[in-house]
Amino acid sequence: MAERIYIFDTTLRDGEQAPGYSMNLEEKIRMARQLEALGVDIIEAGFAISSPGDFESVEAIASAVERPIVASLARALKKDIDAAWNAVKKARHPRIHVFLATSDIHLQYKLKMTREEALKRIRENVSYAKSLCDDIEFSLEDASRTDLEYMCTVVQTAIDAGATTINLPDTVGYSTPVEIANMVRYVKEHVKDIDKAVISMHNHNDLGLAVANTLAGIEAGARQVECTVCGIGERAGNAALEEVVMALKTRSDKFGYYTNIVTEEIARSARLLSSTTGVKINPSKAIVGDNAFAHESGIHQHGMMANSQTYEIMTPESVGVVKTNLVLGKHSGQHAFSKKMQELGYVLSKDREDALFAEFKKTCDRKKNITDRDLIALVEAQENPESQTWVLDSFVVNSGNRMTSTACISLKKNGEKIYQDVASGTGPVYASLRCVEKLIKHPFSLEDYQLSAVTEDRDALGEVFVKISDQSGVYRGRGVSTDIIEASILACLNAVNKMLNENSAAMGTRTQSASAMSFENDMLIGHTDKKEGNE
Ligand code: KIV
Ligand code: ZN
Repeated sequence: MAERIYIFDTTLRDGEQAPGYSMNLEEKIRMARQLEALGVDIIEAGFAISSPGDFESVEAIASAVERPIVASLARALKKDIDAAWNAVKKARHPRIHVFLATSDIHLQYKLKMTREEALKRIRENVSYAKSLCDDIEFSLEDASRTDLEYMCTVVQTAIDAGATTINLPDTVGYSTPVEIANMVRYVKEHVKDIDKAVISMHNHNDLGLAVANTLAGIEAGARQVECTVCGIGERAGNAALEEVVMALKTRSDKFGYYTNIVTEEIARSARLLSSTTGVKINPSKAIVGDNAFAHESGIHQHGMMANSQTYEIMTPESVGVVKTNLVLGKHSGQHAFSKKMQELGYVLSKDREDALFAEFKKTCDRKKNITDRDLIALVEAQENPESQTWVLDSFVVNSGNRMTSTACISLKKNGEKIYQDVASGTGPVYASLRCVEKLIKHPFSLEDYQLSAVTEDRDALGEVFVKISDQSGVYRGRGVSTDIIEASILACLNAVNKMLNENSAAMGTRTQSASAMSFENDMLIGHTDKKEGNE
């Protein structure tokens, strides 16, 4: 009978630690809810002691999800464990994840501790964590470079102190699959009470072996795997959840294990991560990259037409990849639109559906064929109208190769008054963003700007992603339109509204005159290397 592999997702902890992947509270909650829909067993929601923001998000996620276990990381220190427990204790299923490095190199140079001192720290702190919470995981950081005999003593000590999951990470991504399998087997054979705990794998991808090592660990006896959506994480990342899960599923003939992952939610989870963080998915990325199911060569296409199994080992549908279907057009009514949204898995309130339908109709006037991918881009770029202080009313841009670009933009504030201004710049996007900055009277820097086409056709929707910052932090925005300048303005306004909401929530409503003064002093939008402060 097939055995179950438990999926421990650390996208919001190890993944979020990676540069470029930081998320704010609201984004983390949205991601956690999607992870719940994906069917992960454990969500590692953060490292509660590391910052007040991390504490707050672990606590919020603990209340936001119901079925998965919610874990917080903690060093083997009382204050860390207290913070972890206080953050997860309201979860239906809380877990404290305690770790301490056990390799000689970490003990000697990082912790400046003897092996005996480390054992004492583990015994005392795992017992302390157990006095607060039933579900305790202990990780031997840098396990793959830890002396095997000492490893077994550590594992027995942690189990004696109450750990019910033992994680053996390849922290530096150094091991090979055979070494990982040997390590797991050794621990299984030499630790007296190993049956009282679940062995977990947590492999980094520095040599591109994280998934292979994870699968090798499973074959040797690990029953929990720690992974992240798209494999994000420290340095080269962690094992990619979608790859581990689909390898187990597609090759169940070889592995004979199952997971409770709803594989049809995989693509949506990857898309959410990408749209939230603005980091594009590599087109060649296994399972979720744009090319993962594309068959370009004639020979392949011929084979696919004869029998899709000639070149396809799993179907796009099985991982929730949406094909470029021609779906709706100018003459489609709201009923058909609503049905399509449901088919695509969106549950929309009436108000949101009405607003989206209006947007869809506007797009139909400019674009002949509306595909599933267009609809997904439109729905995922749409924000809650209530949080939109500034909304685009109209714009005119003048641009050419022998002139300075100018933008004239009208914005509606709080659904009422219209403000209009003009700005110039070395290009139409520059002029437009500068004009928005003048209108909102709040200076910001442009940290990142990306433009891509949603589909391949000439009249494709353009999707713009921007990252802006002010003294309070970094804010992301997306905009979608057949007109790339409009998409740029929408993306900018999307980020601007988040920035202004955050500012007024943090400081009370800022007086217009004060921000107008600082605006006069700093009108230029430029690249800065400011740290992502609010995230
Ligand atoms: O890579 C690692 O060792 C970790 C531990 C804290 C589990 O992330
Ligand atoms: Zn890690």
